[in-house]
Amino acid sequence: MKNILITGGAGFIGSHVVRRFVKNYPNYNIYNLDALTYAGNLENIKDIQNESNYTFLKGDIVDETYINEIFEKYQFEGVLHLAAESHVDRSITDPLAFVKTNIIGTVNLLNAFKKIWKDNFDGKRFYHISTDEVYGSLGETGLFTETTSYDPNSPYSASKASSDHFVRAYGETYGLPYVLTNCSNNYGPFHFPEKLIPLFINNIINKKPLPVYGDGNYTRDWLFVKDHAVAIDLVFHQGKNHETYNIGGFNEWKNIDLVRLLCQKMDEKLGRKEGESEQLITFVKDRPGHDLRYAIDASKINKELGWMPSVTFEEGLQETINWYLDNTEWLNNVTSGEYSKYYEKQYQ
Ligand SMILES: NC(=O)c1ccc[n+]([C@@H]2O[C@H](COP(=O)([O-])OP(=O)(O)OC[C@H]3O[C@@H](n4cnc5c(N)ncnc54)[C@H](O)[C@@H]3O)[C@@H](O)[C@H]2O)c1
Repeated sequence: MKNILITGGAGFIGSHVVRRFVKNYPNYNIYNLDALTYAGNLENIKDIQNESNYTFLKGDIVDETYINEIFEKYQFEGVLHLAAESHVDRSITDPLAFVKTNIIGTVNLLNAFKKIWKDNFDGKRFYHISTDEVYGSLGETGLFTETTSYDPNSPYSASKASSDHFVRAYGETYGLPYVLTNCSNNYGPFHFPEKLIPLFINNIINKKPLPVYGDGNYTRDWLFVKDHAVAIDLVFHQGKNHETYNIGGFNEWKNIDLVRLLCQKMDEKLGRKEGESEQLITFVKDRPGHDLRYAIDASKINKELGWMPSVTFEEGLQETINWYLDNTEWLNNVTSGEYSKYYEKQYQ
């Protein structure tokens, strides 16, 4: 049995990765380390909590002593690092929280991993999960490749870019065996409703305004979260050491077109009149430093590891909408309390 650490496994993407690894790899002991911030929720992984190869560790990656202790105790042979502060808007109001978790937290994990394996990294792997936002903004054309220069524009992307650089630097300086992926926007079940798709699904359900930044022409590439989890599994097991892979959905949407599609699908599903939810669209003051367009060239992971998204956007979006409508208790739980205060501050 190998001991594998997954950080941030109570969050959105992490919960899908933990579930996949616990179910598919009975020869791994999966340790899910999560601080349970506002974004972490044990309900996201309730279905696997009693599996014999699963252990939850509540802890903060910023706490160096604690991180060193658990690495000493469990001798993790593999690390999949997803824990992060992940919301751009929050990074604009509190950049230091992003420096602490995304940069210092990552360096703590690298140090602890280096400390226990420094004499023999054979068969060990540190996998850092990152974002396409580190590349900055594209114009109307072009794609981010693995060799595109980093040019982050938000405190969030700057902190992720910094953590990526530390991971690479530990590879070069100490020979630490790492893989790194930069992925586009994910969507799917268990997504915290501060991000565009679940926020708008929740607001459409409740007939609340749909706050679209600026003129709505910002463009993003969207990937279904379960396809991201498959890519993460492949890269962890088959990716080459010291390599970066871009992951994307081959699926670019202008925000306003995406919101209109969502309104149409929700109206159909809720039995509302055609065009009813579109009337909720409200253009709001733009986010400062808002990147115009992100788009990913995912041909390297496709050619080298044979990965492609398995569902179309139509299918993924329908599954997502169905999931939120079937899980209103989850949605109500996460949108009560602190969430409503945050929402008022951000959009009113
Ligand atoms: N969501 C996306 O579209 C997307 C796209 C590309 C890359 N990523 C990256 O994937 C990773 C996961 O993103 P997500 O959307 O699932 O994020 P999320 O915000 O849903 O989850 C983050 C998790 O990390 C935990 N966490 C936060 N700070 C912590 C700390 N100091 N110590 C321990 N745990 C802590 C939270 O409790 C939460 O469970 C992040 O590294 C993010 O940068 C996300």
